[in-house]
Amino acid sequence: MKELIESIRKRRSVRRYSEEKLSQEEYDKVESYLHRLKPLIPDLRVEFQIVPCSETNCKFNAEYCLLVYSEEGNLWLTNVGYMLEQWDLYLASLGIGVCWYGMGKVEEERQCDLMYAIMLSFGKCDADAFRNGTDDINRKAASDFWTGCGDERLGEIVRLAPSAVNSQPWRVEQVENKFNVYRQKGGVPLLSAQLFKRWNKVDMGIFLCFLDVALESEGYRYSRVLGTESDEGKRVLVATYTLEGK
Ligand SMILES: Cc1cc2nc3c(=O)[nH]c(=O)nc-3n(C[C@H](O)[C@H](O)[C@H](O)COP(=O)(O)O)c2cc1C
Repeated sequence: MKELIESIRKRRSVRRYSEEKLSQEEYDKVESYLHRLKPLIPDLRVEFQIVPCSETNCKFNAEYCLLVYSEEGNLWLTNVGYMLEQWDLYLASLGIGVCWYGMGKVEEERQCDLMYAIMLSFGKCDADAFRNGTDDINRKAASDFWTGCGDERLGEIVRLAPSAVNSQPWRVEQVENKFNVYRQKGGVPLLSAQLFKRWNKVDMGIFLCFLDVALESEGYRYSRVLGTESDEGKRVLVATYTLEGK
């Protein structure tokens, strides 16, 4: 995953696409990368459908949307976030624009034993749709969500993770070489609380993807024990990491 580090500084949500279409070669790369994504939970089956954006309720002028379906189970939405963020970063490396689209809806949410999880728009875009530095980025400082962080470089990378409505629901508490990653609940209007319940679980997978890319690119050896996607409590333990050295 460490090869994705370059894209972390470059990616941003692309909501304006060009008229140009993906070449067959680009389409094949985009499609085949879906089969190379590293899962967080290997036991959960995840499937994809690429459809013309015009056949969805996505309001962007993208050429395509990717529909993501998954088996349900503990951390299934977190797993989807973890997997598809790798794809988002890979497409940024190809100069192809992507936007997570939580507002997406499909007619049939259930497909046999799989459940619709989320959609992402994608297509060609201008080169200036990407970031060329992190100056203009609107995110919390790492110290606002990661207490006891022993390595500022990690914090500087993971703070760039995207999240629904830029809600950044992650909190990290570190003591020596161990840290817990939590999903912080609440702080959103009641009306949208139901939507956030789903999106913030995807956000946590995105964050873990950024974390793993950061740890690998900084040369850390580490182990991870996964927690839960439960809706109990204000703060939910998603994962515990132990750094085992470099
Ligand atoms: C799970 C998820 C759902 C999202 N849903 C939408 C959406 O429905 N519409 C939209 O315009 N952006 C959506 N976004 C994009 C976020 O608003 C965006 O990632 C965030 O504001 C950070 O900006 P950046 O991606 O440009 O860095 C979504 C992002 C995530 C992670």
